[in-house]
Amino acid sequence: MNNRKIVFFDSKPYDIASFERTKHDNITYKFLESKLTSDTVSLAKGADAVCAFVNDRIDKDVIEGLHDLGINLILMRCAGYNNVDIHHSFKRVHVMNVPAYSPYSVAEHAMALLLTLNRKTHKAYARVRDNNFSINGLTGMDLYGKTIGVVGTGKIGQIFMNICKGFGMDVVAYDKYPKKDLDIEYVGLDELYKRSHIISLHCPLSTETHHMINAVSIEVMKDNVIIINTSRGGLIDTAALLEGLKNKKLGGAALDVYEEEMNYFFEDFSEEIISDDILSRLLTFPNVLITSHQAFLTQEALASIAETTIKNFRDFFGDEKLPNEICYHCKDHDGKCARDETGRCF
Ligand code: NAI
Repeated sequence: MNNRKIVFFDSKPYDIASFERTKHDNITYKFLESKLTSDTVSLAKGADAVCAFVNDRIDKDVIEGLHDLGINLILMRCAGYNNVDIHHSFKRVHVMNVPAYSPYSVAEHAMALLLTLNRKTHKAYARVRDNNFSINGLTGMDLYGKTIGVVGTGKIGQIFMNICKGFGMDVVAYDKYPKKDLDIEYVGLDELYKRSHIISLHCPLSTETHHMINAVSIEVMKDNVIIINTSRGGLIDTAALLEGLKNKKLGGAALDVYEEEMNYFFEDFSEEIISDDILSRLLTFPNVLITSHQAFLTQEALASIAETTIKNFRDFFGDEKLPNEICYHCKDHDGKCARDETGRCF
């Protein structure tokens, strides 16, 4: 392969470290801190591909911009691609993702959030560091015997269900495309809402799943239900979640993702005033735990993301088939795509 160049947007030190470890002589990396938007797309000039992440906004203008620069490959260094206009990219720019890197990283983080929120270990840690050894207000509940509803039984959902079974929890699940031959008790979404003490979201964000947790679905749920979201912020109508917490219908929320996270997550605003009133209000609740989209952040996941991303790049320029290409034809499970025959979506 001739010498080629990848420009990375929204690069963080941990991205740079993991990609530097997969360095190849004939590939040059350029790491930029800026997010990929219509204002920054011109920074990709001279690249053969751009590499982007979850909060880059790859809309019609960005795709046109890349196309005009002669760049016809977007490497998503993540699984989700809800931030890419895949309709507009079709026949203009190829989009490849990393469909699986370490589903364990996300599933384990979901359980970490649940354990922390339930047993209040984050508060206990702060208390004892301050020589406060009181345990008042730290009462949790046994997870053993509780019913957990898992929405989305793909790679992460399945691992999360196994972890929950290890805790002796009863697991019910909903998936638009139920998996056959797996020991999963599938129920309808309403039944899942009615039966679950805890609900954990592991499905992708789409027009169908956008705001699936809303005022109406919250009303159907058990009182005091805990909601965990490590998937995508847009699955939850955050205003409705806030209302459910305020009126004490909900018992708590543990969120690794937030629908307006693009403005804040991954950055340090500790010296600034947060202008997002919903986020600020959520952070005041004792029964809300928020992490900044870090569920994926394990050494194994970062190494795997870097390796697969570079393999995607080499496949593309080596005229290989592209198993990790995505387009709007092949994203739907029953969609027909040229990739099935030619190895590429177009
Ligand atoms: P996957 O593709 O293996 O599983 C997704 C499951 O959701 C599939 O079983 C699919 O049939 C199901 N699904 C699709 N549409 C649905 C609908 N309308 N209702 C219910 N279920 C539906 O994906 P994987 O790897 O398990 O990832 C799940 C999600 O986790 C990703 O979409 C991504 O948004 C999120 N994620 C979050 C990370 C983080 O750091 N917080 C890191 C990686 C992924």
